[in-house]
Amino acid sequence: MKILLTGARIIDPAQTIDAIADVLLENGKIVKTGVDLLSSIKSKDAAKIKILELGGMVLTPGLIDMHTHLREPGLEYKETVASGAKAAVVGGFTSIACMPNTDPINDNRSITEFIKRKAVEADLANVYPIGAISKDSAGHQLTEFWDLKEAGIVALSDDGKPVMDAALMRHAMEYADSLGLPIISHCEDTNLSAGGQMNEGYYSTILGLRGIPGIAEEAMIARDILIAEFTKTQVHIAHVSTAGSVRLIREAKKRGLKITAETAPHYFTLTDEALQTYSTSLKVNPPLRSADDVKAVKEGLADGTLDAIVTDHAPHARTDKELEFEYAANGISGLETSLSLSLRLVSEGVLTLPELIAAMSLNPARILNLPKGTLKAGADADITVIDPQLLWTVDVQTFCSKGRNSPFHGWEMRGKAILTIVGGEIKYALPSLKI
Ligand code: DOR
Repeated sequence: MKILLTGARIIDPAQTIDAIADVLLENGKIVKTGVDLLSSIKSKDAAKIKILELGGMVLTPGLIDMHTHLREPGLEYKETVASGAKAAVVGGFTSIACMPNTDPINDNRSITEFIKRKAVEADLANVYPIGAISKDSAGHQLTEFWDLKEAGIVALSDDGKPVMDAALMRHAMEYADSLGLPIISHCEDTNLSAGGQMNEGYYSTILGLRGIPGIAEEAMIARDILIAEFTKTQVHIAHVSTAGSVRLIREAKKRGLKITAETAPHYFTLTDEALQTYSTSLKVNPPLRSADDVKAVKEGLADGTLDAIVTDHAPHARTDKELEFEYAANGISGLETSLSLSLRLVSEGVLTLPELIAAMSLNPARILNLPKGTLKAGADADITVIDPQLLWTVDVQTFCSKGRNSPFHGWEMRGKAILTIVGGEIKYALPSLKI
């Protein structure tokens, strides 16, 4: 089937395209991008093409979330591959990479293959499993990287837990590098963070909650930078939340090291001040930080120190969250709010729209070595169409994710994905579009 998307503002950072144009899709691929493509199509052919008029909209390469938690196998009451993939396309994501902290952990090929099978059955977003660095993510023994790669993982991580053993991390980086697999590091020195509930600072003191100091994150980032330098390999730093982390990564990049990094919308939108409500929807790891940290995270995005914006979608059930703060699970359900929160960076002047799209599509594709993130002719027809002016109110009851744990419930948003096309097929269209 052929689809012609006409009249939108096309943004493709890979080709430095930012112009009003049309895009033609056929057989799951992008055929071409250009001005007034309709006039070049013979009238007898035009009848066979689905034409979507998208004046006033922004059309981008499909958004890629390189840090999602799906909870299948084992924790299906929180999220399944299908419910997560549905939330992804509603949020404008055509591809998601899912962390291995399922139950059991994705530390062997049978789990990787299971997740991939579930994704094919769901037939919504592309789902790329991330394998565990260590068996059971316990931090003692490396998994079978080669076997996991053959099964289809795109990266390795023990996310949710750090690799505390520096020697194990060294071997992981060396082995992964030889296979061309990125390592995604959850940086948290658990001796420094132990027992912490929120950011260590003024608000932890007045709220009487044990703090997690910024150095719990920064000490391990410094360690991983040193290991990457020593082994001449690469490392990707997950969910950066502090000013010190941004500084360390900026310096490492300046020295030419192969470091990439990501942050998530809650780290540039909220501060620890919000925790005065003791709402467990704000409990996340790493924790929400200070206003100075938020400023530094934005500066890190603006100057390219932070390459990617991820959701760190961490869906949890009410039974995991409606508990005393100390016992509540960490995490925010992010797939359905991330794009709108990130668009605020554009209205604030932190990023241009093409820079934002690069951080949410091209850069994650490059870090994970995915042949995605561009509208080049011949590329997979993965496309996100955004209405940048659409006003809407977050209502967790309408989430497609099973995880309704969002501190953004009730927030007024401007801008939303209205059409998500994966492999040339429409997987989500805003109901009012009537297509
Ligand atoms: O808040 C978090 N939730 N941080 C993590 O690192 C793990 C995640 C989860 O799996 O719930």
